[in-house]
Amino acid sequence: MIVTVTMNPAIDKTVDIEALERGRLNRISHVELDAGGKGINVSKTISKLGGKSIATGFIAGNTGGIIRGVMNDWNIENDFIEVSGETRTNTKVFEKNGELTELNEPGPTVGEKDIHALLQKLEGYAGEKTLFVLAGSVPQGVEKDIYSRIIEFVHKKGAAVLLDADGELFTKALEAGPDIIKPNRAELEQYAGIDYIASEQEILSIAEKLMEKGIGTVAVSMGKNGAMFLKENHKIKCPGLKVKAHSTVGAGDAMVAALSYSWDEGMSFQDTVRTCMAVSAGAVTTIGTKPPSREVVDSLMEQVEIEEL
Ligand SMILES: Nc1ncnc2c1ncn2[C@@H]1O[C@H](COP(=O)(O)OP(=O)(O)OP(=O)(O)O)[C@@H](O)[C@H]1O
Ligand SMILES: [Mg+2]
Repeated sequence: MIVTVTMNPAIDKTVDIEALERGRLNRISHVELDAGGKGINVSKTISKLGGKSIATGFIAGNTGGIIRGVMNDWNIENDFIEVSGETRTNTKVFEKNGELTELNEPGPTVGEKDIHALLQKLEGYAGEKTLFVLAGSVPQGVEKDIYSRIIEFVHKKGAAVLLDADGELFTKALEAGPDIIKPNRAELEQYAGIDYIASEQEILSIAEKLMEKGIGTVAVSMGKNGAMFLKENHKIKCPGLKVKAHSTVGAGDAMVAALSYSWDEGMSFQDTVRTCMAVSAGAVTTIGTKPPSREVVDSLMEQVEIEEL
């Protein structure tokens, strides 16, 4: 069973405008709404692959209701905690000339009682066959050690955790020993205190140090340059697949979905790696954060090249 946790979901609202004029009435020619947040995107991709997951986290107000509706439309089992306030709407204003202006709402403030309710819910799902996906940022009111707290208590029930976070959330969660992590290159550099573009050799040695800390699987995504995968004594590098890129936003989330789906299906390490590369490259070919179809993923799977490091 895969349980995705999105503590800070959002509605992504993309609007098209001829040319934005400050202090004037601006008419929108096209609006597109999409339920977003890393865990939610992961659940959608798992669903496209033919798998199942349960989506949980915090939602609030009318926008929270929209998120629940989208989850239902996608046939994704959802079990969110309702908190007071309003889930964020992040508006992206696209002008004809390609310029993008973003307006992001603060979202609700989550209280100690809400956090307790979520932890109780997670405890109910925790078991030896459960993988929790902890992905993305946390709302106001939630401490940066929340992921490490979750990892510690679900581990006691035999569950596994896949972590995809950055900054302090990532660093603190690492101390609790997540089972699978998927940092991108920049997140790993930030973690290691490197303020330049690290070489692949340096990336590999940071990943090796993380393995020594007791993390089972380390997948480092490197955008169009591909990814590195470390598990036990396997070290693999895959060059990026050659695809026509539409939007690279959410490619990392697609890889997290592939890692989760492979875990749930009990795939071998090599098959996991192939699935990760095909699903993430497939995600790049779609508009926005839309997941790729199963057919696209299956055909990309044949392109994956595996180099042992
Ligand atoms: N331009 C591209 N061409 C081919 N594959 C790509 C491209 N960009 C990304 N990918 C694939 O997607 C994977 C994840 O991409 P990336 O490293 O950008 O993740 P990320 O920064 O975590 O993304 P996000 O957090 O926005 O979802 C890469 O390892 C690669 O397999
Ligand atoms: Mg990412």
